[in-house]
Amino acid sequence: MRIAVIGSGSVGAGVARSWSGLGHSVVIGSRSPESERVVSLVSEIGNGVSASGLADSVAGADVIVLAVPWSAAEVSLAALGNLSGRVLLDATNPFVKGLSLGLGHDDSGGEQVARWAVGAHVVKALNIVDARLLDGRKLDDREISIPICGDDKDAKGVAGSLIAELGFDVIDAGKLEISRLLEPLCLLMIKMSMKKSLGNEIGFRVLRD
Ligand SMILES: NC(=O)c1ccc[n+]([C@@H]2O[C@H](COP(=O)([O-])OP(=O)(O)OC[C@H]3O[C@@H](n4cnc5c(N)ncnc54)[C@H](OP(=O)(O)O)[C@@H]3O)[C@@H](O)[C@H]2O)c1
Repeated sequence: MRIAVIGSGSVGAGVARSWSGLGHSVVIGSRSPESERVVSLVSEIGNGVSASGLADSVAGADVIVLAVPWSAAEVSLAALGNLSGRVLLDATNPFVKGLSLGLGHDDSGGEQVARWAVGAHVVKALNIVDARLLDGRKLDDREISIPICGDDKDAKGVAGSLIAELGFDVIDAGKLEISRLLEPLCLLMIKMSMKKSLGNEIGFRVLRD
């Protein structure tokens, strides 16, 4: 699959490394693809990963992953051009002023992303997993659960399969509106991970019989 990853930070680098390692064709969409930092990241990952400007990165991509700070989400999406009909995996959390959610209860970042990226099939996913765990490793001998949500069944299928390939336990949590619940869950995970008594890394898991 051809995957455009928008943002070359912790999440962008993490998914670019993991999906390219599985044989997917990954392009990192960056504001500065020729900067020393991005060039060195691309070279360190290898696996045929490349970097390009934002608009170029999404050409021909089957899936576009939004992995930028919330404050940069609108402008980044605008720079990608027309995303109508495209699968857009939104990994962001709408943090404003540090660790506060700027949207919630009756709206969400996922829904706002869908309003900005008019016509895109937005799937909210990967927002509750620590970027250091994007290699899909198990914790406590179990796969980490990744709830995903979105309004388009096919887009959810594509995003869900890619995430499952990473080694995660994917759960279809419902419509995009469920982002209203997934985004606060990220905050809970961050707050709990700050408690050193829980160890270095924690992950979310849904147990079922
Ligand atoms: N870190 C985590 O563990 C984690 C986990 C789950 C979800 N998230 C969410 O995923 C998103 C990305 O998180 P991250 O930790 O990968 O962030 P990050 O390390 O700060 O990287 C974000 C990337 O976004 C791009 N960007 C575009 N406009 C920017 C701007 N105005 N300021 C800064 N960077 C800008 C940059 O890439 P270029 O310079 O190449 O354009 C940058 O490297 C956030 O919304 C975050 O809440 C994070």
